Amino acid sequence: MRDNIPKFDVLPEHIGFIMDGNGRWAKNRGLERSAGHREGAKTFRKIGEYCADVGIKYMTFYAFSTENWNRPKSEVLALMKLFKEYLNEGDERIAENDIRQMRLKFIGEREGLPKDLLKLIEKAERESAKYDKVTVNIALNYGGRAEITHAVKEIAEKVKNGEMSIDDISEKTISDNIYTAGQPDPDIIVRPSGEYRLSNFMTWQSAYSEFWYSDILWPDFTEEDVNRILDDYQKRNRRFGGV
Ligand code: FPP
Repeated sequence: MRDNIPKFDVLPEHIGFIMDGNGRWAKNRGLERSAGHREGAKTFRKIGEYCADVGIKYMTFYAFSTENWNRPKSEVLALMKLFKEYLNEGDERIAENDIRQMRLKFIGEREGLPKDLLKLIEKAERESAKYDKVTVNIALNYGGRAEITHAVKEIAEKVKNGEMSIDDISEKTISDNIYTAGQPDPDIIVRPSGEYRLSNFMTWQSAYSEFWYSDILWPDFTEEDVNRILDDYQKRNRRFGGV
């Protein structure tokens, strides 16, 4: 834990990060795209830890979308390897999670993920379930539309089984049946690398999220950039449709 953390009057409870620009970061250096992802994974840890130290309670990192399977096989394999390496760090990661009381949660479709990765995911979730100070969601094989479709199916099943009636269905029912059930919606979504779209990220949850864009490529993202986001957030006037 560090001591030189600036104080902010208002902190977002939940920040979403679209970790974009790894490929370009690597290309600019004449490296393979996978080298960009490896550097991006380091940034993920650095930024996650910093946000926890600042006092952010929920974070969601977009690591692999349902559409990312369309990338070259070698790139997909390199990404799966990175996820496994991270989860395999065992004691070191557990100690870190312990210091910051960090709970890890994977959001996205479980089906289609390699079996060995799935096992590691379940283990990490089980081992960190006791922590409730900080929740780190890793969106893996995640798509916002797929998430809503999944929730609709779950609700339809409950109606079919007579557990609830159609009249009971409200917005809260959807929120309670998506992967982030029980968590606040993201207050702000961050997309580096000069792109200005959501790309199927937190489609339901982002209804009132603020957006923060920048040209920085994800591997170059620093703690100072988080401070800039938090500075900007102080000035946003969130009205939620009111005046
Ligand atoms: C998008 O950048 C990034 C991804 C599809 C992968 C993001 C994954 C990581 C940063 C690794 C996270 C690691 C863990 C352990 C959770 P891009 O490749 O589309 O970049 P480009 O637009 O410059 O080509």
